[in-house]
Amino acid sequence: APVWCVVPAAGVGARMKAGFPKQYLKLQHKTILEHTLERLLALPYVAGVVLALHPDDDYWTTLPISRDQRISCVDGAVERAGSVLNSLTWLEDNGHSDAWVLVHDAARPCVTSDTVANLIESVRRSDAVGGILGVPVSDTLKQVVNDNRITGTQDRSKLWQAQTPQFFSVGLLKRALQQALDVGLMVTDEASAMEFAGHQPLMVEGRADNIKVTRPEDLPLATFILQQQAL
Ligand code: CTP
Ligand code: MG
Repeated sequence: APVWCVVPAAGVGARMKAGFPKQYLKLQHKTILEHTLERLLALPYVAGVVLALHPDDDYWTTLPISRDQRISCVDGAVERAGSVLNSLTWLEDNGHSDAWVLVHDAARPCVTSDTVANLIESVRRSDAVGGILGVPVSDTLKQVVNDNRITGTQDRSKLWQAQTPQFFSVGLLKRALQQALDVGLMVTDEASAMEFAGHQPLMVEGRADNIKVTRPEDLPLATFILQQQAL
């Protein structure tokens, strides 16, 4: 089955406080969104990209990559899960119901081809419904209640940080996301919707440098990672 990419890029980047959406900030003379899309489009097995943009986005068409015929744009939604759902609807409406998708945050420009290939291969070798990239948690995690009083410590050995891409079949993922949104579940990634539907997606170890650019202090870090990867 062909592999498509879904790239949610309809967020406003509130935590970045840049005055405009963070995916249009430049790292090494290129916007974060261009870095991300170029890396996905360089994967030889990717058939195309569905890009979810804010309905009022004025920046996208100013980028040369917006003329790339392999990219199709859809309107995003107020929540990330809704932006992904709109993208999956586009795939179904355009005859790609049988495809598999790599859902990948626009805000993760440092993703590498080897980790994505390993995700796909690991899922195909397994009997899991799909899988995601992640890394084991390295900090000790505390449970706190009101007034920041610590009431417990999590067993870190069982905890991983979820990243993207997250790799699932279009049909299963769309149904799971719809179902999760219908019951008002907090859906911050694709796997959580699949878990809610009763599935157990595979966790595939990725790289710690696949960061999500979220806060101002992530910008010099992302620049450094891109420089290191180019060596
Ligand atoms: N995203 C989206 N639609 C939304 C919200 C987020 O497509 N309604 C996208 C973002 O553009 C980003 C990815 O989902 O590429 C991960 O979200 P996040 O890092 O939270 O980005 P923002 O929501 O833009 O940032 P913030 O939460 O700080 O406002
Ligand atoms: Mg957000």
